[in-house]
Amino acid sequence: MKISFAPLGTPSKGSLIFFVPYAKDSSSTCILMDSVRSIDNAVEGAISRAIETAKFEGNVNSILQIEAPSRLSVNRILLVGVGESSKITRLILQRAGASAINALSKFKESEAYMSIDPYPSLNMKPSEIAAEIACGAKLGSYRFTEYFTKPSPARSALTLENLFLMVESSEESETIFKLRNELAEGVKLARDLVSEPGNIKYPEAIAKDIEALSEFGIEVDIIRRPSLEAMGMGALLGVSQGSIREPIVGVMRWNGSLKGPKEPPVALVGKGVTFDTGGISLKPSGGMEEMKYDMAGAGAVIGALRAIAGRKAKCNVIGVVGLVENMPDGAAQRPGDVVKTMSGQTIEVINTDAEGRLVLADVLWYTQSNFKPRAMINLATLTGAVVVSLGTHMAGVFSNDLELANKLVNAGKLVGENVWQLPLDPRYDKEINSEIADMKNVGKGREAGSITAAQLLERFVEDTPWAHIDIAGMAWMKRSDDPVVPKGASGFGVRLLDQLISSNFEV
Ligand code: BES
Ligand code: ZN
Ligand code: ZN
Repeated sequence: MKISFAPLGTPSKGSLIFFVPYAKDSSSTCILMDSVRSIDNAVEGAISRAIETAKFEGNVNSILQIEAPSRLSVNRILLVGVGESSKITRLILQRAGASAINALSKFKESEAYMSIDPYPSLNMKPSEIAAEIACGAKLGSYRFTEYFTKPSPARSALTLENLFLMVESSEESETIFKLRNELAEGVKLARDLVSEPGNIKYPEAIAKDIEALSEFGIEVDIIRRPSLEAMGMGALLGVSQGSIREPIVGVMRWNGSLKGPKEPPVALVGKGVTFDTGGISLKPSGGMEEMKYDMAGAGAVIGALRAIAGRKAKCNVIGVVGLVENMPDGAAQRPGDVVKTMSGQTIEVINTDAEGRLVLADVLWYTQSNFKPRAMINLATLTGAVVVSLGTHMAGVFSNDLELANKLVNAGKLVGENVWQLPLDPRYDKEINSEIADMKNVGKGREAGSITAAQLLERFVEDTPWAHIDIAGMAWMKRSDDPVVPKGASGFGVRLLDQLISSNFEV
């Protein structure tokens, strides 16, 4: 879908879209802005009649369509509700843009024109409003069609080829959109990586994608087995030893701080298990194919760095991803094995399916000791238990620093990638003490599974402000009620991390 910006006008084909606010204090249903009024006059009041008939109020997520309006040659007019105008947020605008695109796909529309008005009592210029709507349209129009060899089936087809945003200062709007588009590209990269199957995106393949980020001014370091062995990453190497795919730790660095490259970075760390069979503690076969998305933490970190560097964020950011494949094999690690981590601590591997924490134990330690970050945030599809606690609407966040946890909660609210804090506590920590090593990789049975996993990670963090986000329920959407997140790979975490950085760590 090509997105362009144009001056205000009346199109002669395609679909014409208006974003209309809800009228709180008036007896009329929704507010008709200037451009809608003039079109309403042109169609002899057909729009206002349709609004009356349908009792269309302009609420968020509501859409009214008027097919083949007389006296205009457009296919249809769509009114998309944006709610009370004083309460409009960037997220509401993005979702409205995405909803419009999705509605049009059902009509097999190929061309759409969005007419952008200034809203009363909204502290945003029309050029910004248009850029935000365009960003949402782009996020919501994502489809992964890589492997269809015939025209893609209707369920995934997006028919829209051209989207025009008509706005008074279209050039300014286009400039603003270029920056917002960097974020959308970061989300797209994360979604692509997560959608790809395990036979395509194994560690070395993802390393190639990471190397390609140097185009955006990101410094890249790909660390392979000999160095991982030399550093003593026994826990990460233990997970990968049953796979013919070589383990890799990928490091990305964006130096955008105005204080220079020596300023301590924010570190983003991702679990990148490119396929999780469970290893010798083999997972049941039903649904195992989903475990291609067990690298979604790494995908989000890679996408976030792409977004942050693309918009030239004024902050130093490090991204580190642990890329391994967890397979059963003659060489695979066994339940009961004891591994030595880079930190020197030992772990008894009770269950080879609790592998993400083993990978992160080494990657967190490496990140903290090498880069001395001012804050460290890891994302991981770590436990099925977090899906039991929070379902598919929020990710769980665990932190040794309440301020950092709150920053994540607030950033999440702004972008619609919500996180909810869950506890860490010495009583849970005790549950991972082992009889023969410093710790074991699972707690008591199924109890508090997400917390005991987080407790293990915490043992590899010293005094760095740190947060762990368990995204197991958020990385892949079987169905979605958020228009900017299509079904499938969500790219969860990219917008959250980008917002966390822009709200708290720039300049
Ligand atoms: N990758 C899984 C967690 C997961 C489950 C992610 C569902 C996405 C959706 C993780 O490696 C795992 O297998 N965890 C086990 C831990 C258990 C063995 C203690 C789990 O959650 O069952
Ligand atoms: Zn597992
Ligand atoms: Zn896993």
